Amino acid sequence: MKAGIKILRILKSNEDNFVSGQELGNKFKISRTAIWKSVQRLRAKGYKIRAGKKKGYRLINVPDFLLPTEIQYGLKTKFIGRDMRYFTATDSTNEQAKKLASRGAAEGTVLIAEKQTRGKGRLGRHWVSPAGGIWMSVILRPDFAPSQAPMMTMVASLAVAGAIKEVTGLEAKIKWPNDVMIEINKNGVMRKVCGILTEMGAEVDRIHYLVVGIGINVNNQLPKELGHTACSLDELAGKVPRTLLARKVLEKLEYYYFLWLEKGAQVIMKEGRRLSAVLGRTIKVATAEGLITGKAIDIDNKGALILRLKNKTKKEILAGEVTLHL
Ligand code: BTN
Repeated sequence: MKAGIKILRILKSNEDNFVSGQELGNKFKISRTAIWKSVQRLRAKGYKIRAGKKKGYRLINVPDFLLPTEIQYGLKTKFIGRDMRYFTATDSTNEQAKKLASRGAAEGTVLIAEKQTRGKGRLGRHWVSPAGGIWMSVILRPDFAPSQAPMMTMVASLAVAGAIKEVTGLEAKIKWPNDVMIEINKNGVMRKVCGILTEMGAEVDRIHYLVVGIGINVNNQLPKELGHTACSLDELAGKVPRTLLARKVLEKLEYYYFLWLEKGAQVIMKEGRRLSAVLGRTIKVATAEGLITGKAIDIDNKGALILRLKNKTKKEILAGEVTLHL
């Protein structure tokens, strides 16, 4: 572990007190000058550290950035987020993650950015990713056939919905197949706060890697034209601690990922149905076959949406784009 990280941990556990340079030096067996240099590097990253003559150092403020040191502080995971790559800006964390994964990066590696210049959404759409959100991708290597990969999107949706609930108290719901939504009024009107894009490298019968891209609108502004479909969490809950939210997402992602591997898709889908924003509603789904309207009556264990059509027949839909309000 780098000296800076070790120093930070000590300063954090002595929140209201100064810790002397001598004490830090003795602890880590480095000189007081080396301690001072590490403190300077932390300050350059945005940490506010007060230095008092004969008193030492005291942590006053941590920067509002998605720094790995902050997200990993107290992170309760076995492997997700143990290796994190941080970008102040990048084209797309999914694109970077795919490159890294194809070069053999470890399972659980996380790439996270303050901004994306070419953020990608589903169906080749652009994903607006300004500063203030959480834009991250996680590399996973489940020993499954490619046909199972879509379940990873549900696993990630459950993780995000659970983390949002824990950090903000907001009841997040999942709009099949990949959106996390929040009700903004009592009439059931919902706004999208998170989108998930799962990509994969595979052979016909074997996944090499999955890249799970998670984009959460947290404290960021959104362009006006998205205002009637999307919103940021801070509009509903006030400013949200992003590092805490990112940490909770990673912890819950690992929890649900293990659940999927150990207990199978049916357990994941049971949770997915409980948090579904579509079940019981009459919806419109844009599919490759065209627009289909019906009542969403089930999401089966493969992740397919089941609609009851006007003529009372059932229709299974494997992929499509849902409109909730007709
Ligand atoms: C969607 O709803 O269309 C999916 C959006 C996924 C956006 C995330 S942000 C992090 C990762 N990097 C990308 O370029 N896209 C995903």
